[in-house]
Amino acid sequence: MGTLLILMVLALLGGGAWAQGTGDLVQQGQKVYQDNCADCHRLNGKGLPGTFPAHDGNPFVAGPPGPVIATVLNGRKGNMGRMPTWKDKLDDRQIAAVISFIRQAWSNRAPAVTPAMVAAARSK
Ligand code: HEC
Repeated sequence: MGTLLILMVLALLGGGAWAQGTGDLVQQGQKVYQDNCADCHRLNGKGLPGTFPAHDGNPFVAGPPGPVIATVLNGRKGNMGRMPTWKDKLDDRQIAAVISFIRQAWSNRAPAVTPAMVAAARSK
């Protein structure tokens, strides 16, 4: 019983520290977004219809993190045009930050992405 209680307290403390770190990440991500993404996807996350996809309310952006990380790292040429490659311009933390931001900004409520997840995707 005592052990269980200690584990629960540790989990709570750990959760708090994690939430704190996520807040910082999202805040940094907002700046990365303004500097690198808003020209196309717009500050309001609505993109430009038919030209730049919206991030607000986009199920791809708020869906499984793997494809989102891969798209931002490697870019993509699709039927709307070309999404630039960011792997040489932004580091793991900046990419994790900007993805966490777009997953939680506007009406989006998806879990953050960590720098470790970006590092793992980069080395694939
Ligand atoms: C030069 C314009 C441009 C910039 C700058 C840009 N993007 Fe994009 N982005 C695009 C285009 C165009 C697409 C759609 C490509 C396609 O047709 O598949 C896209 C697609 C995406 C997608 C996939 C959306 C979906 O629904 O499939 C994500 C996520 C994304 N961009 C994130 C970002 C992030 C984060 C940044 C900043 C680090 C950024 N983009 C900067 C043009 C841009």
